[in-house]
Amino acid sequence: MTDIEQIQQAVLQIMVIVKDQLRTNLNFNHVEKKSSRTDLVTERDKQIEKQIIAFLSDRFPKAYFVSEEGYGDCLTDLSGLVFFVDPIDGTLNFVKSHDQFASMIGVYHDGQPIFGAIADIMQDQIFYGGPELGAYVNQQPLAPLINQELSAGLITVSSRLLMEQLNNYRSIINHSSGLRIFGSAGIIFTRLFQNKEVVYISNLKPWDLAAGLAIGKAMGLQAINIDGAPINMLKSQTVIIGTKCATIETKDLLS
Ligand code: IPD
Ligand code: CA
Ligand code: CA
Repeated sequence: MTDIEQIQQAVLQIMVIVKDQLRTNLNFNHVEKKSSRTDLVTERDKQIEKQIIAFLSDRFPKAYFVSEEGYGDCLTDLSGLVFFVDPIDGTLNFVKSHDQFASMIGVYHDGQPIFGAIADIMQDQIFYGGPELGAYVNQQPLAPLINQELSAGLITVSSRLLMEQLNNYRSIINHSSGLRIFGSAGIIFTRLFQNKEVVYISNLKPWDLAAGLAIGKAMGLQAINIDGAPINMLKSQTVIIGTKCATIETKDLLS
């Protein structure tokens, strides 16, 4: 297996490049709609995805890529070294509000998370780590995760799930300290890592999940598929992610 130090160094190197490029230039030349009028892709998403894949495939020629904008591979299994790339997570925020967006790379070996990095672009912070490395933000170890109960903390349920199935989530929201919505899975992961939230529920794609789950594994964050099935890194699924206590309470309230 490729050395984890080598992977960490390369991923952080390209993350810093991408973060600084985005922070210093928030322009996007061209916006396209994907599945709907609020599901957007800009020239910057595409350019950054190509840049990350070119940088990493140069250093790890045998690796595979699962990425959002179509420049990666079409995988049917997760053997070997796989990089999951979300070039801009929260593209709608990037376009409309110029904040609360992230860039994410998750690294898996034979289906197991080994490293993840999430750049909170406008806060100039890179969260990173993995099960063998621990969890850090800008080179500083993150404080341990506090196993807070649902009632003790803020939660996020994605706006899509709320609009489609509010009744399913009403009691969870009522049991929590309050609902907050951000529009970027990466940003919400960073809030979970910092004990600012206790639960996140959303329907997410592999590149939305990969980096956060790798860092989260180092911290003791729980992540379960809402259906009780194991999380499958080759498809979309609705997940509950949070502290151990709050994740179990949330699952119980849903059943
Ligand atoms: C989206 C954001 C959003 C989540 C969506 C994702 P994108 O990512 O993370 O918070 O609710 O499911 O698709 O498309 O901006 O990379
Ligand atoms: Ca994206
Ligand atoms: Ca995303």
